[in-house]
Amino acid sequence: MEKKGKSDDAVFLPTLVPGMDKMITNGGIRRGDVVVIRGESGSGKSIFCFQSLYNAALGGENVVYICFGESSKKVKENMKSNFGLDIEKLEGDGKFKLIDLNPSQFASEVEEALAKNKAGMEQDAVLKLPSKVDRVVLDSLSAVSDSFTHRIYYREYLDLIFSRIEAKNAIGFAIVERGGCGDVSEGPENYMADGVFVLYNLKKEKDRVRALEVTKLRCSNHLKNTVPFKITDRGIEVYPKESVF
Ligand SMILES: Nc1ncnc2c1ncn2[C@@H]1O[C@H](COP(=O)(O)OP(=O)(O)O)[C@@H](O)[C@H]1O
Ligand SMILES: [Mg+2]
Repeated sequence: MEKKGKSDDAVFLPTLVPGMDKMITNGGIRRGDVVVIRGESGSGKSIFCFQSLYNAALGGENVVYICFGESSKKVKENMKSNFGLDIEKLEGDGKFKLIDLNPSQFASEVEEALAKNKAGMEQDAVLKLPSKVDRVVLDSLSAVSDSFTHRIYYREYLDLIFSRIEAKNAIGFAIVERGGCGDVSEGPENYMADGVFVLYNLKKEKDRVRALEVTKLRCSNHLKNTVPFKITDRGIEVYPKESVF
């Protein structure tokens, strides 16, 4: 499933969301990189990430989906009943780990540890991950961010979490529950991440059209236009050759 990059020894993992990898010249995301998945609520962020992890685990990868604030039970049920993404067997085989973390409790523990000693913070306290992991989803980083009392500690924490994913040589999807490019509430996630995918649910006359844009990707060239996607009972499908405007 892995692909070698052109220039160096970088290894790219395809997102495995149908159509999406055709938007990226290198065909995926470089191992060690974290991509922010950004959009309003209901724009399809959780589906996008879950689908990527599901397909990757089917292909033999080890994946971790961390629910901060979202109920993992509900996410699991919805993905199965809406899109047939049934992780029961993958969980049993240890390929797919679905974890619940209480964001406010988690944030206060991290803040306390950071206040004491950033450098000495236990790796598992930054983010508990299995020894071998290929993909990680944080759903959502906004829930963690909103629970931090001090902005400076949130920035430091982001730095640690991104480094941890890099050290694992995994790819990370960090979900941000905010609007698109130029949103005044744009936080540090965007400039700290290696990539940003924005999901839109645009009003077009009387209807709404779903669209996706890669606004940043350090590891590869990519399509710059905003392309449509659909959510059907098979999940997300991106149409890189079509245009929304
Ligand atoms: N079976 C389905 N067919 C088409 N669209 C669906 C289906 N199930 C859910 N959706 C759409 O998916 C949206 C939820 O996507 P989700 O990834 O949970 O959003 P986000 O994580 O960005 O808040 C719902 O608001 C709904 O519009
Ligand atoms: Mg969600």
